[in-house]
Amino acid sequence: MTKPLRLGIAGLGTVGAGVVKIVRQKAALLEARGGRSITISAVSARNRAKDRGVSLDSYDWEDDPVALAQRDDIDVFVELVGGSDGPAKAATEAALRAGKDVVTANKALLAHHGQDLAIAAEAAGAVLRFEAAVAGGIPVVKALTEGLAGNDITRVMGVMNGTCNYILTRMETAGLTYDEAFAEADGLGYLEADPNLDVGGIDAGHKLSLLASIAFGTQVAFDAVELEGIGRVSIEDIRQAADMGYKVKLLGVCQMTGRGLEQRMSPCLVPATSPLGQLDGGTNMIVIEGDQVGQIVMRGAGAGEGPTASAVMGDVLDIARGTRISTFGQPAAGLEMTKPAQTATPAPYYLRLALLDKPGALAKVAAVLGDAGVSINRMRQRSHDQNTAPVLIVTHKTTRAALDEALAAMVGTNVVEGEPVALRIEQV
Ligand code: HSE
Repeated sequence: MTKPLRLGIAGLGTVGAGVVKIVRQKAALLEARGGRSITISAVSARNRAKDRGVSLDSYDWEDDPVALAQRDDIDVFVELVGGSDGPAKAATEAALRAGKDVVTANKALLAHHGQDLAIAAEAAGAVLRFEAAVAGGIPVVKALTEGLAGNDITRVMGVMNGTCNYILTRMETAGLTYDEAFAEADGLGYLEADPNLDVGGIDAGHKLSLLASIAFGTQVAFDAVELEGIGRVSIEDIRQAADMGYKVKLLGVCQMTGRGLEQRMSPCLVPATSPLGQLDGGTNMIVIEGDQVGQIVMRGAGAGEGPTASAVMGDVLDIARGTRISTFGQPAAGLEMTKPAQTATPAPYYLRLALLDKPGALAKVAAVLGDAGVSINRMRQRSHDQNTAPVLIVTHKTTRAALDEALAAMVGTNVVEGEPVALRIEQV
């Protein structure tokens, strides 16, 4: 009889408890699919006394995840502790050194140390898998490393942080301010302990950097992600964008260009009728474009007990079956150093300005844009009673550098009040 696959689970929060439940409740299904039974030898968490809604009595307890990672009676170390360093990193390294396979949901750990950990895994003959780290229940890592492996990937895009999408959706549909929508998300328990991981775009940037590595065969380079959060998105922009047929999304985009690897995570406008534009609430969507397959759209829950535990178990079952895939889809030593594209691919931009209502003001703005080589596609000035007129401009495709030159020059015209808002319009 084939030996059971024995897990050691570190971290018993929502996801850890979800994994324990699946192992307990679906034993027959897991054994049938994995070809061997899946068991839990030992677990570890900070608080032993906490009620997690599932019995842990039959498992050994370790206070120290590093000790758990090295136990002789585990084959797979399941790391659900979180955090880019500290115990999660120490225990993952210890597990790999001991030759254990590792399954993790930890995007921060891999975004910062993915290359070193992948090399450590290969040196030890172990595998390190991380499906649950990106977009929760959506099996996008598997899609890129396996199902789409015969493609040159041309672009990967996505909404990868459900909390931000929830906040933006509530601003749009309920007319809440950013602060009100943030408070609502907080009340629902959506925000990470450090909310800036969500609203600052960092969590989503971690995920994007991992997908970019698989898609383009490059070493993970989170530091090269151009990052902007949603804190400056206003209701006014969401309304104006909607009026012109767009939605505002915290959108991740990575693509290989002649200038190097472009990785961006920032608020963008997308057509309201596109799949990304129609993604409301706390869900995630990943769009993959390959030279052979065309465009693939995957949508689903990006967080939560069931979806994230589902992704962890997908990796565990692969290991049970004997499927051994390199962490980023190819041996880590062969991943190229990432050369970051210093500038984003040209795109149309949405501009919102408060223009002093006096003769010639609009002409000055148009001249400044023209001088920088930025061409206007659409323009709208709303009727108004104040001294400043709200003006919206959609440009033709332009570089960010040309746009920045025009925005800087606008200050000198003395006809624009405050700072203009500029949002990229992504062609999706
Ligand atoms: N906080 C994330 C989100 C889930 O809101 O999507 C974990 O990465």
